[in-house]
Amino acid sequence: GYDISKLLKETGDTTLDIGFVNTASCNSAITYIDGDAGILRYRGYPIEQLAEKSSFLEVSYLLVYGELPTQSELDAFTERVRQHTMLHEDLKAFFNGFPRDAHPMPVLSSAVSALGTFYQDSLDPFDKEHVEISTIRLLAKLPTIAAYAYKKSIGQPFLYPDNRLSLQENFLRMTFGVPATDYDIDPDMVKALDQLLILHADHEQNCSTSTVRLVGSAHANLFNSVSAGIHALSGPLHGGANSAVLEMLDGILQSGGDVDTFVKKVKNKEDGVKLMGFGHRVYKNYDPRAAIIKKTTDTILNKDGVGDPLLDIALQLEQRALEDDYFIERKLYPNVDFYTGLIYKAMGFPTKMFTVLFALGRLPGWIAQWREMIEDPATKIGRPRQIYTGATERDYTAISSR
Ligand code: ACO
Repeated sequence: GYDISKLLKETGDTTLDIGFVNTASCNSAITYIDGDAGILRYRGYPIEQLAEKSSFLEVSYLLVYGELPTQSELDAFTERVRQHTMLHEDLKAFFNGFPRDAHPMPVLSSAVSALGTFYQDSLDPFDKEHVEISTIRLLAKLPTIAAYAYKKSIGQPFLYPDNRLSLQENFLRMTFGVPATDYDIDPDMVKALDQLLILHADHEQNCSTSTVRLVGSAHANLFNSVSAGIHALSGPLHGGANSAVLEMLDGILQSGGDVDTFVKKVKNKEDGVKLMGFGHRVYKNYDPRAAIIKKTTDTILNKDGVGDPLLDIALQLEQRALEDDYFIERKLYPNVDFYTGLIYKAMGFPTKMFTVLFALGRLPGWIAQWREMIEDPATKIGRPRQIYTGATERDYTAISSR
């Protein structure tokens, strides 16, 4: 890539690139993607190695601080996060203001935004200690907020974090446990959740991350910037796709499981129907994250009593699409969301929690990108131009003569 901003400044010209298809908005040393080759690396480390050998907290450290931690650095980081998992009691009350059937995504983003009101003395984006404590608070509290949003939606009491457990174990317990009852934590589910969070942890300048950077470029604090990112993620073309996939698979099953008719509908663009979980702005090859998740889906759904007829529909859809010219010509392959919903469902999460899980995973990426943006002296407030297509100058007419 080359930097044409100086030239454009001199000539006064404007480039039009709707959807930023070819326009970079920043320099970044965090995540590398080669969409044609299907490569994804965090800080240089291949996603396949991290998904197999690392943990979500270690990956969070890597993304935010730039290097893999030593054992003592990881222990200290884990301990700091552990100390901040609780929510202020007044924030707990905040959840009761929402209607019982409130979707957990806006509850999540509202609660993150509200966190800023509880920590007003540590919001300066240019104070390193403020940024550091906000980072830890967000990493520690988002799983608690997510579990509370879920409990609220099903009318059950909130469970406080049990800090003898890991972040993932705690999240599963706060989500599915009930007070005064033991909750059996399935280690396979914990491992699958940890891996899913790693796979979602960053993806360079996607829609929600660009939102976090854009809001942050106005020097809004980290909580407000992340809250805006959660809103962006909720859209069905972005993080919302994982629930849309499950709804699509369910719809196909309900109408008799006819995969061919559905694929025909997609190819004819009937009613704008898309094969959800397929296609990606950057990947023009199999999304490497989807390849890893597909294997985990097999493991989880082959556990006793966990099978799901939707997996068969998904496998058939993938098979048809990969052999079909429509998808081949457009380079449409499964993306990260194609199989995640099936695992989340097998874990017991309702569809509306899927995008919340995506947000939990993407959080360290948002934080790392926001910090990189704030620390970069080249950062300017994000302010795109436009090509004006409206009316030329005209005179105001009195309402009586319109
Ligand atoms: N099903 C059917 N056709 C598709 C699909 C799909 N999932 N995705 C793209 N196409 C077609 C488009 O209709 C277009 O066809 P045309 O050339 O005949 O007009 C062509 O492929 C190019 O697609 P664009 O929409 O221009 O691609 P873009 O890069 O703008 O969009 C996106 C990428 C939004 C991901 C798109 O592929 C899509 O909507 N996919 C389904 C939703 C989804 O799975 N989103 C998750 C993305 S990954 C993430 O956020 C983690």
